[in-house]
Amino acid sequence: MKNGQGQLTEIYLDSRAQILCPPQLIPAPGQYLLAHASTSAAPLAVPVFFSDSTPNGFCAAPYLPLSWTPGMQLNLRGPIGHGFVVPPAARKVLLAAFDESPERLRGLISIAFMQGAEVVLVSDVLVELLPEAVEVQPLQALKDIYQWADYAAFDAARENLPQLGKVLGLGNATLSKSSSLPKSQVLVRAPMPCGALAECGACALTIHNEWKMVCKDGPVFDLDSIF
Ligand code: FES
Repeated sequence: MKNGQGQLTEIYLDSRAQILCPPQLIPAPGQYLLAHASTSAAPLAVPVFFSDSTPNGFCAAPYLPLSWTPGMQLNLRGPIGHGFVVPPAARKVLLAAFDESPERLRGLISIAFMQGAEVVLVSDVLVELLPEAVEVQPLQALKDIYQWADYAAFDAARENLPQLGKVLGLGNATLSKSSSLPKSQVLVRAPMPCGALAECGACALTIHNEWKMVCKDGPVFDLDSIF
């Protein structure tokens, strides 16, 4: 993990933002940086997730603080946490934003294409500037596409995990252990004020009666470790 300086250079219409920073600070898809604006009076740093590659930095996923404006200097710490790992053999990739923007999953598209995979993005949130080869489906189709996929990456808020499991038919011992289910990972969104520095517990997640910290044990978890 590194500390360094970055700069917010542009905020796009879809609320993503261009951040210039040294290459060693750029998070992988699913990882995050903690960012604090040099001029901000706010005491807490903000988690900033990767959305896409850009020259000399990266494009950050929504939503950044409304008070942040282009030109702002940022103190950065990271990359932090476990990101997504697309299995090299995956050829049918499902990216699913369960309850918010799919922009934290966008970085997986180029990885999937590089290994010759088809990509289906499931989201009820409109996504701009997607490659034409990406098929977009509504959340209503999630369960069917989950059964088609050989790798699935989800983005869901901590409080919505039970609902995600229900939609996918997980949590049932027979289904969960079925070898026909795709390798699946989920980026769990939770408040992460300290990014594991102070062990504040704000990001705690209970998995099978055991506490995990989203900030350091995640934010990406294997789905079969949760259900
Ligand atoms: S954010 Fe403080 S312990 Fe995770």
